[in-house]
Amino acid sequence: MKRIGLLTSGGDCAGLNAALRAVYARAHHGYGWTVVGIRNGTAGLMERPVQAEELDERAMNSDLLRLGGTILGTTNKGNPFKFPMEDGSFVDRTNEVIEGYKMLNLDALIMIGGDGSMAIIRKLAKQGGIPLVAIPKTIDNDIGATETSIGFETAVQAATSALDHLQPTAASHSRVMVLELMGRDAGHIALWSGIAGGADVILIPEIPYKLSAICEKLEQLKKRKRNFALVVVAEAVKTETGEAVTAVHGGGAGATRTYGGIGQYIAEEIARLTGAETRVTVLGHVQRGGTPEPGDRVIASAFGVHAVDLIAEKRYDRMVGWNNRRVVDVPIEDAIRAAQTVDPQGELVTAARGLGISFGDSVA
Ligand code: F6P
Repeated sequence: MKRIGLLTSGGDCAGLNAALRAVYARAHHGYGWTVVGIRNGTAGLMERPVQAEELDERAMNSDLLRLGGTILGTTNKGNPFKFPMEDGSFVDRTNEVIEGYKMLNLDALIMIGGDGSMAIIRKLAKQGGIPLVAIPKTIDNDIGATETSIGFETAVQAATSALDHLQPTAASHSRVMVLELMGRDAGHIALWSGIAGGADVILIPEIPYKLSAICEKLEQLKKRKRNFALVVVAEAVKTETGEAVTAVHGGGAGATRTYGGIGQYIAEEIARLTGAETRVTVLGHVQRGGTPEPGDRVIASAFGVHAVDLIAEKRYDRMVGWNNRRVVDVPIEDAIRAAQTVDPQGELVTAARGLGISFGDSVA
């Protein structure tokens, strides 16, 4: 009988609880193993006593399919290789994490995370001899070697729904509505929701834009008697002169910086250059929470089951993924080698251009 650890790491997203439920179902009911849920990612392993508990039948509850966030808690800061201390210094705390893992007497670990957490925990696993299997999650959908990750579909749904809400008010007031969306350095959420929600302009970090081209597109819409426009901007889009727009959170060594604010810049520039009345919506963490969409529940469930099967087969250092309509597994190394960003020549960009959507590089 095995005893396996399970943790969620990095930013939360919808569908994580469905994956936890699937791991418990397969491991406990399928193989008779004990599943130990570790709290708050690696932070739970650093604490003494270690923050973890054996999962019980409550983990089978179908409410978990419907519940956003993660019941185990998570963290997207506090890299144990460079842990920020209160005095402003950074300390290597990896030995504490590995010791914490060993205290739990585990045979293997399943981590559910994005590429950043995966890289960190893989390094820890190598250092501590921890048999590891990874499950990909991120609203950004930027993990390599898988077509999709847990959380992406729900984020696209939230962003599309925002456009559904913005369109009537834009039309009523003859306004240009700018919607700023998450996605870190990838424009997937903006591209998918922009197509689904009828955006006129989609700005993504993978395609450089010119303000003049955006204004030309808006002019073209006016000539076609359209009295409003919907402009979607991915958060990592830079100013026209190439500056990233970011926000700092907290202070000292623990301060974090995220993208944020490019929507306001784009709206102000459009207003300045065209005289249009603009308004900005920054959708933010609404894209991360909420009830998981069916697609996220399904892949999370399939990923959880396959991850446990990999442990049963002693196939470690692998990530489960979704490719060509099936669950697959790949070396974690392949998944974290390079971020999966939008291909500017890819099918979806071509489709969007075919629909007349402008990427701000030319008037479609
Ligand atoms: O990676 C997920 C993500 O939501 C990004 O899209 C966003 O840039 C970032 O996390 C926000 O992080 P935080 O939760 O720290 O604000």
